[in-house]
Amino acid sequence: MKSENEKHFLHARERIPWATQTNAKRQNPAWGAFMPPFIERAKGCRMWDLDGREFIDYRCALGPIILGYGFAEVDEAVREQMQRGVLFSMASPLELETAEAIIRNVPWLEQVRFMKTGADACTACVRLARAYTGREHILTAGYHGYHDTFALNWPTPGVPEVLREYVHDFQYNDLEAIDAAFEQFGSQLAAVIVEPYDWGLEIGNAFLQKLRQKCDEYGTVLIFDEVLTGFRLALGGAQAYFGVTPDLAAFAKAMANGYPVSAFAGKKQFMQQLEKTIITTTYAGETLSLAACRKTMDILSQQPVHEHIFKMGDMLKAGFADILTECGLPARAAGVPAAPFIHFDSADEQKNLDLHNRLFAKLFENGIFANERWFINFSHQPLDIEQTLEALRRACRML
Ligand SMILES: Cc1ncc(COP(=O)(O)O)c(C=O)c1O
Repeated sequence: MKSENEKHFLHARERIPWATQTNAKRQNPAWGAFMPPFIERAKGCRMWDLDGREFIDYRCALGPIILGYGFAEVDEAVREQMQRGVLFSMASPLELETAEAIIRNVPWLEQVRFMKTGADACTACVRLARAYTGREHILTAGYHGYHDTFALNWPTPGVPEVLREYVHDFQYNDLEAIDAAFEQFGSQLAAVIVEPYDWGLEIGNAFLQKLRQKCDEYGTVLIFDEVLTGFRLALGGAQAYFGVTPDLAAFAKAMANGYPVSAFAGKKQFMQQLEKTIITTTYAGETLSLAACRKTMDILSQQPVHEHIFKMGDMLKAGFADILTECGLPARAAGVPAAPFIHFDSADEQKNLDLHNRLFAKLFENGIFANERWFINFSHQPLDIEQTLEALRRACRML
């Protein structure tokens, strides 16, 4: 007898390539039936799959859910806006109100434009940098979405090879690679675009400072891809967390508690390139997501969201450490409290991967849904964390 998840998966695979829209939501053979392929509904920090199984969720929809699923105040703001309309023939005043709300939380920003996806926002930043400098080369570290410029390291037929001449990548925190790249391409570099924090490495500051200094020296535009760090690592994102200010930044996840909106933003002199180059799209001014964003911005600044997230994260991380020691596993608790994780650190990489996969299969089986990083949202409560740690203890013992 097939489960509802299985039946739906087999049908979806026929009609929808991958059976999903998002790479990270594809079925992972390592976890088989334990990982729920479809989620029917979610509330707070919990979600339910097609077979009615309940999970405490630490994926937060891959980052966007910062307050909790179905957060009443945000959803109410959306419902109110729906009475007025979703999209108009001219701009809505909500665009300015939302831009101001973002700037209140991220004060280094002078101007903001909206988009729909993280990849859109990153691409727009690069366009502005190229327009500003009149140069074409870019230097990049980290993931910035599926657009051609950023997809050169994947097996991606369809991406023009010629782009490799203009896009140079380096590893996060490789300070020597930065020197080498500026030495080789410095005067041709329009932009450096980086994820300002690598959640797995727990470092960033010296790296960002070095990039700032090199970009200043060569007249290169520094872009932070704050798609994942914005409003999660801190209210003001990685810029506030590390105290290093870029010229432009892309924001998306956690901006609107799951409603689809992103933004590219920064200093006026760079944003003003929009007087020269055209970046335009029909749905960026869609008002339901803007209403959600404006309300999310208010809640983030008025309620102790980050304080709570960090407290729950500390609790989770301390629990990880105790349980890993108790069970004698070759692993340690790692990561910032906003996104703790379990790092298997034996000398044998294959064994680490195997333990990781087995642990996550057991966690799914025990009603815990996490990713490599465990994202916390404002709706996780101490009881949820305790229940999670109990499930983790059971899972670790089974290993
Ligand atoms: C750091 C970063 N940049 C860009 C993106 C792309 O965002 P989107 O999937 O909304 O296009 C992601 C998505 O995971 C991301 O994590």
